[in-house]
Amino acid sequence: MKIVEARHPLVRHKIGLLRNPELSTREFRELTNEIGTLLAYEATADLPTETVTVPGWAGPVAVERLAGAKITLVPILRAGLGMLTGVLDLLPSARVSVVGLQRDEETLQPVPYFERLTGRLEERDTLILDPMLATGGTLIATIDMLKRAGAKRIKGIFLVAAPEGLKALEAVHPDVEIFTAAIDERLNEKGYILPGLGDAGDRIFGTR
Ligand code: URA
Repeated sequence: MKIVEARHPLVRHKIGLLRNPELSTREFRELTNEIGTLLAYEATADLPTETVTVPGWAGPVAVERLAGAKITLVPILRAGLGMLTGVLDLLPSARVSVVGLQRDEETLQPVPYFERLTGRLEERDTLILDPMLATGGTLIATIDMLKRAGAKRIKGIFLVAAPEGLKALEAVHPDVEIFTAAIDERLNEKGYILPGLGDAGDRIFGTR
């Protein structure tokens, strides 16, 4: 499985700032979006392009443009919305397929409760947005959903990933590519990432 822990100094700097528990909601939100932009830049480095000839100031000129169907972003409710603006800054024409999952209290498995996917998924690159890759359960259920709907090229961007979640993902979806600002040490007994960021959704939405 392709796992990229971003080495860019701006990402290293901004994820370091995010560790500060004293950040305001506004600061946390801004940094989350900024890192989202930078990770999306890395994750889209292999998008296919095609060469076309367009009118230039001195006559026809050959240029490259993105080829094929538009990418779809897949923010996972609720925290994934926190990266959406930052990623749309880079990909303003992207489609957005929003998904929500909640845990079934009996099976403890994540079950979709909201799924509004764009069409022609089989033709699109698919970029999942979620700040925290913890146990991997929600991510795996989201990828199951996307593949059932036809998605073939799936990537995900995360602020922080836990080794446990990466391992669980690799066991079932080794074809998916992961881009993260940090791979942290481990999960605690409640499924929070250590050292992590705490509850990313609460910090983005100010519901602490
Ligand atoms: N979700 C969070 O918001 N934080 C974690 O550490 C794990 C899951």
